[in-house]
Amino acid sequence: MKIAVLPGDGIGKEIVAQAVRVLQALGESFEYEWADVGGAAYESAGHPLPEATLKLAMESDAVLFGAVGDWKYDKLERALRPEQAILGLRKNMGLFANFRPAICYEELVGASSLKPEIIAGLDILIVRELTGDIYFGQPRGRRASPDGAFAGADEAFDTMRYSRPEIERIAHVAFQAARKRGNKVASVDKANVLETFQFWKDVVTEVHEAHYVDVKLEHMYVDNAAMQLVKAPKNFDVVVTGNMFGDILSDEASMLTGSIGMLPSASLNDRKQGLYEPSHGSAPDIAGKGVANPLATILSAAMMLRFSLDKAEQADRIEAAVKKVLASGLRTPDIWSEGTTKVGTEAMGDAVVAALAQ
Ligand code: NAI
Ligand code: MG
Repeated sequence: MKIAVLPGDGIGKEIVAQAVRVLQALGESFEYEWADVGGAAYESAGHPLPEATLKLAMESDAVLFGAVGDWKYDKLERALRPEQAILGLRKNMGLFANFRPAICYEELVGASSLKPEIIAGLDILIVRELTGDIYFGQPRGRRASPDGAFAGADEAFDTMRYSRPEIERIAHVAFQAARKRGNKVASVDKANVLETFQFWKDVVTEVHEAHYVDVKLEHMYVDNAAMQLVKAPKNFDVVVTGNMFGDILSDEASMLTGSIGMLPSASLNDRKQGLYEPSHGSAPDIAGKGVANPLATILSAAMMLRFSLDKAEQADRIEAAVKKVLASGLRTPDIWSEGTTKVGTEAMGDAVVAALAQ
């Protein structure tokens, strides 16, 4: 089994180093190959996703990814910006299904600003479509406005679009995931305003009627879903939605877990190959300080073991070790609360490695 390790920028290097240590502590004979991606690759090879990095990712069984981006690249043309690397990997590897489980660990209930009764026991799964929608739709660009009240003025435009097969395959993924959990899917759309999402709703309904009548399906507008996520998040089981709504709702859901530093993710294609990364970015504000929370990345490595490497038991071991460490009271600053012990990135990694050996 070969794992491509792409730490990227900012805290990416610090958190990925801890996840690799945890993987190595399992005693499996995985092969690791490291490569630059994002701003680091722009510096070393002139492109955020060099051919060699893409080739390595495509040939590996799984990719462990940190994060990319830094404010200092904001002035670069879009094709050379670090964030293009993750978009390119998703597109080239066909990673259309993004799993983001938002679980509130018992020990972190007190660290959240939300009421305990709202988040205690929370375990929901956001399934975000990853290769379509307004993030990739063509045409896009800038021009002089051709009509309307501001005809002739500068304008910018993007295109929201989804094809039937794209919606069908993500719907299948969500319904199948729900069958292994609470058997409930909320499909989030904006069908009242957008043609793309009326179509989304229609196709999800068709897939449901043809194959999954045993699963409870509910349709919800995205604005209501955003509200329900903070009001009564435990009413959700699986949430399936498009690329942009999923991006936003999963960041919102991360706050229900205590910190964005706790939210892992898996991006999968139809071949079990996957890219595993924390849901957060490169956090330039804390990069290099040794305080980033590595748990989202460590939990992403557990998802990698389960989905791409056929090592479900090892995944369970890592998740149990994380729980043990939280129960022992160790916290990185983002999840710290009165009465717990503040530690840095490396000490948190040490603790997870030690808990694995217990
Ligand atoms: P961010 O997720 O990097 O940071 C948001 C806030 O959360 C910051 O205050 C940061 O310190 C904190 N944070 C994030 N991860 C943390 C962790 N593990 N432990 C403790 N605190 C943590 O989002 P932001 O600031 O909007 O973006 C920074 C850069 O990351 C940008 O260049 C952005 O484009 C990029 N980005 C990359 C992603 C990726 O590689 N998949 C995803 C999201 C953003
Ligand atoms: Mg995001």
